[in-house]
Amino acid sequence: MIKIFISFATITTTCFFAPIQIQAQIQDQQPIPSLKETFKNEFLIGTALNTSQILEKDVTANKLITQQFNAATPENIMKAEIIHPTWNQFDFTLADKLVEYGRKNNIKINGHTLIWHSQLPRFVRQIKSPDSLAQFFADHITTIASHYDGKVLSWDVVNEALEENGSLRKSIFLQQLGEGYIVEAFRLAQKAAPHTELYYNDYNIEQPKKRAGAIEIIKKIKAAGVRIDGVGIQGHWRASKIPLAEIEQSILDFSALGVKVMFTELDLSVLPNPWDSDNADVSATAGNSKGKDPYPNGLPDSMQTILAKGYEDLFRLFLKHKDKISRITFWGVNDGQSWLNNFPIRGRTNYPTLFDRTYTAKPAFYAVIATKK
Ligand code: XIL
Repeated sequence: MIKIFISFATITTTCFFAPIQIQAQIQDQQPIPSLKETFKNEFLIGTALNTSQILEKDVTANKLITQQFNAATPENIMKAEIIHPTWNQFDFTLADKLVEYGRKNNIKINGHTLIWHSQLPRFVRQIKSPDSLAQFFADHITTIASHYDGKVLSWDVVNEALEENGSLRKSIFLQQLGEGYIVEAFRLAQKAAPHTELYYNDYNIEQPKKRAGAIEIIKKIKAAGVRIDGVGIQGHWRASKIPLAEIEQSILDFSALGVKVMFTELDLSVLPNPWDSDNADVSATAGNSKGKDPYPNGLPDSMQTILAKGYEDLFRLFLKHKDKISRITFWGVNDGQSWLNNFPIRGRTNYPTLFDRTYTAKPAFYAVIATKK
């Protein structure tokens, strides 16, 4: 008797709730176009992934990532302070998870980054002798690049080695190892990771002086008989001031050197910049957000349009040079994740990506998709 009652209750519950469940599923699955499908014959479409996304903590985020992207760059977890926290300790836990996530979802991983002056572990910043630094340098590159050889598509071998005027940045590496350190980094990476593409990555290298510096770096690496496969233009720009002419010239100049061109950290800020510049130096901060956070409750339509137009102009240019560009990576899945909520001023509300804080596609997303029509 009891048994019958229970099964009756189950049937009633199922029949009663089924239409609602199906309705919710349909709403949930409202198909939007896929970036990776739309541009599958042109370029890989990537995103930066943070720890919670790599660990698949958020179902909505995960669904969007696997639907939209076929490339990913770890936002932080392959940086030296996390992957090499003390002199003789490497921690591959999260990076191995990222590699597995990529394998499972057909997402190509770009390792970011082997040699960078920022986000270094404390022990490196305390090194005082060039010999010790050289030992860290070789050990770091060799251990990490060999661990992931054949498992990641590529590495940003050296990140941000240039000043705005095109000279070499006075980083700990330049100061202690001398200017040959960049070629040496690529030489070590080539040896440790023969099946992995090797890139130089930087911001503002579309600008003439810094671009000349990047060209010199690429030429020097090649002249030394060492492999470099590509150059990454980060692409942290302002939506209303995208340097389209310089970007186009850079695509031409870099590809003329025989390397792949990529846009590796694309985001378009809509907030006022304290220096009226595109500086992406993570150490540059500018006070608090008081009076400098104009859109805390949502982006006005007029700005939404500027953002969409910025992305549209860029993608039209990328498509024009599709034979020279191999990947476009957005620096963040959605607006809530973006580092630009805290850079260069902490605690603001920025809107630099194609998806809003609820992971809904913005007008900029549809403008990008429409460039293919
Ligand atoms: C940023 C991350 O997005 C932040 O989460 C972190 O706090 C600082 O670094 N250029 C780069 C990226 O090459 O690694 C930086 O990422 C953004 C600028």
